[in-house]
Amino acid sequence: MNKKPVALITGAGRGIGRGIALELANSGFDIAGLDIVFEPENKKIGLFEVKEVLGALGAGFHPLQGDISDLAVHEKILGEVIGQFGRIDLLINNAGVAPLVRLDILETTPESFDRVFGTNARGPFFFTQRAARQMILQVKKSPDPRPAIVFITSISAVVSSPIRAEYCISKAALSMTATLFADRLAEFGINVYEIRPGIVETDMTAPVREKYDKLIAEGLVPQKRWGFPEDVGKAVVALAKGYFPFSTGLVLEVSGGMNIRRL
Ligand SMILES: NC(=O)c1ccc[n+]([C@@H]2O[C@H](COP(=O)([O-])OP(=O)(O)OC[C@H]3O[C@@H](n4cnc5c(N)ncnc54)[C@H](O)[C@@H]3O)[C@@H](O)[C@H]2O)c1
Repeated sequence: MNKKPVALITGAGRGIGRGIALELANSGFDIAGLDIVFEPENKKIGLFEVKEVLGALGAGFHPLQGDISDLAVHEKILGEVIGQFGRIDLLINNAGVAPLVRLDILETTPESFDRVFGTNARGPFFFTQRAARQMILQVKKSPDPRPAIVFITSISAVVSSPIRAEYCISKAALSMTATLFADRLAEFGINVYEIRPGIVETDMTAPVREKYDKLIAEGLVPQKRWGFPEDVGKAVVALAKGYFPFSTGLVLEVSGGMNIRRL
């Protein structure tokens, strides 16, 4: 059984997932990091770059290959984490995709809808279901430490962008998934939280960087800057530390104030 607490992060190879891995490693977690991209020889970007960085910090990092939208691989992934560490203390559902092409809601294709929904909502729903069963077993053996689950949704769960409807719908579904698991797992003392990032500088937003640079400069974001993966990572650490014991179902927005309605 691993001595340090163990976090399983999906989509850990870059961007927000990588930022969460770094912040959790700095806070004493060992990490299992899942990604659909798995290139052991590539130490410049991806899971094996993260492994090197975390190793230098003295944290354990176990890279896992898998597509979260593929339900057939979930059992194997979780089995590998348990085989490596003996338990899961924290699950971070972070892996997600944007539409390949931004199309108006009047043009959204079924193919893009299924791709985005499968990765952002359906996959994490069933992955969490399986992980939650494991966490319940752990709690029944020993109530301490209490496991927890975090969903990385988006402000798009509640903010309309008709040029990427399928993304907004998938995040709204993921937000309700967080609420449902918070409700169901409360009796086991397994807290479930939702983090809604705003506009974060990652590869996902690279194609719209100039557009958002302009909107941010014009005041769209009250704090007048891009969010960074570490902003989300620090919010995860705040939850992971256990300082919100009576707040399951909490929604934490990390958006520089985009939650403020303004006149
Ligand atoms: N960047 C933003 O502005 C922003 C804002 C709000 C929410 N989010 C959400 O945060 C999460 C991370 O976004 P990001 O900006 O870091 O994106 P990113 O594209 O930079 O990184 C996503 C990572 O997830 C992996 N991944 C993608 N599909 C996967 C799958 N099917 N199975 C396993 N791994 C998969 C990718 O390979 C990549 O390493 C996503 O859920 C995204 O929707 C991002």
